[in-house]
Amino acid sequence: MKAVICPRLGDPSVLYVGDWPSRAPQAGEVRIALHGGGVNYTDLMVIAGTYQRRYDVPFVLGTEGAGVVMQCGAGVDHLRPGDRVLVQNNIGRGCFADEVTAPAARVCVVPAEVPLLTAAGFAINYGTSYYALATRGQLQSGESLVVHGASGGVGIAAVQIGKALGATVIATGGDDAKLAAVMRAGADHVVNVRSENLQERLLALTNGRGADVILDTVGGDVFDASMRAIAVDGRLLIIGFVSGRIPEVACNRILFKGISVIGVPYGGFTERNPLAWASNMRRLLEMVASGVLRPLLHRCSPLADVQSALCDLRDRKTIGKAVLYTDAGRPSAAGGAPGGAVTPL
Ligand SMILES: NC(=O)c1ccc[n+]([C@@H]2O[C@H](COP(=O)([O-])OP(=O)(O)OC[C@H]3O[C@@H](n4cnc5c(N)ncnc54)[C@H](OP(=O)(O)O)[C@@H]3O)[C@@H](O)[C@H]2O)c1
Repeated sequence: MKAVICPRLGDPSVLYVGDWPSRAPQAGEVRIALHGGGVNYTDLMVIAGTYQRRYDVPFVLGTEGAGVVMQCGAGVDHLRPGDRVLVQNNIGRGCFADEVTAPAARVCVVPAEVPLLTAAGFAINYGTSYYALATRGQLQSGESLVVHGASGGVGIAAVQIGKALGATVIATGGDDAKLAAVMRAGADHVVNVRSENLQERLLALTNGRGADVILDTVGGDVFDASMRAIAVDGRLLIIGFVSGRIPEVACNRILFKGISVIGVPYGGFTERNPLAWASNMRRLLEMVASGVLRPLLHRCSPLADVQSALCDLRDRKTIGKAVLYTDAGRPSAAGGAPGGAVTPL
């Protein structure tokens, strides 16, 4: 089969599409003919060797994807060949390929209304954001939610899930054109962290109270401003540090306002709680099927475009999600355009 291979650690230029052996499923596994895989910021960290889990080279990149079940190993009873599914393969990866063999516990049936290329880039961003906001942050209807890095994959999912949970959503980012797309995706307010004073704007937009819940994929200066613009009893959700600076917390601020600074280890959550992962996925996919959530596919291109897709993500040229499709998932071969809006920059 064809696969995106990482032969040595480095930047996206090391990647190439080559032949890779298929693998028959063992007990508890399924083999899936993939239509596509979702591009994640984490892919950049995995190939650079800076991600928390290291992989022996060569390996096949790609944490998530969607396609059709080909074969089930012994003991797999919730799936059968021909099922349309998504897969989130946090440990094994290998989803930028024609096929992947993965634990059945990380595979979920996709409703007929949801295109497979939409599902291919869904699991990580929507799963992370839902786990962060509903489980870790206990976001309540009527509360204010700030989403940093809102034009990104996790960010735009958090904007939509925050709205679905009844919050007033303030989205932040560094580019007006991308923030306009975030407004179209459902945010109530946007703040440009490059041209505006973040702390002052967040306080103004929350009538001086500060935000009830803040979801932070950025860290650095954005985190520091968040600590000064969070409400009493607020929850600050730590997702990642795309700014490159891991911030430090002054515990007196936590004490005075009674705030919670909460880690969101989504990969660990899915490993420890496969049933909760599957239940959340089903709920979120139903929200897509019914039109409550509208995943935003910015870019859909063949596996061979992996280098430029990752460079665009690194260079902040992507809004929402990029997906790489296989020959089986090529939009014409799959029967039309993928779902979700494709928004030009
Ligand atoms: N905790 C978990 O379980 C978990 C799960 C998934 C992802 N993550 C992490 O979450 C982070 C975001 O992932 P993603 O896939 O959403 O990435 P993404 O699609 O690249 O989005 C990140 C957004 O942050 C902004 N940004 C990028 N570089 C920046 C910089 N140097 N300084 C400030 N802002 C910057 C960009 O928006 P603007 O250009 O508009 O500012 C971009 O849209 C990553 O660190 C990823 O590893 C964690």
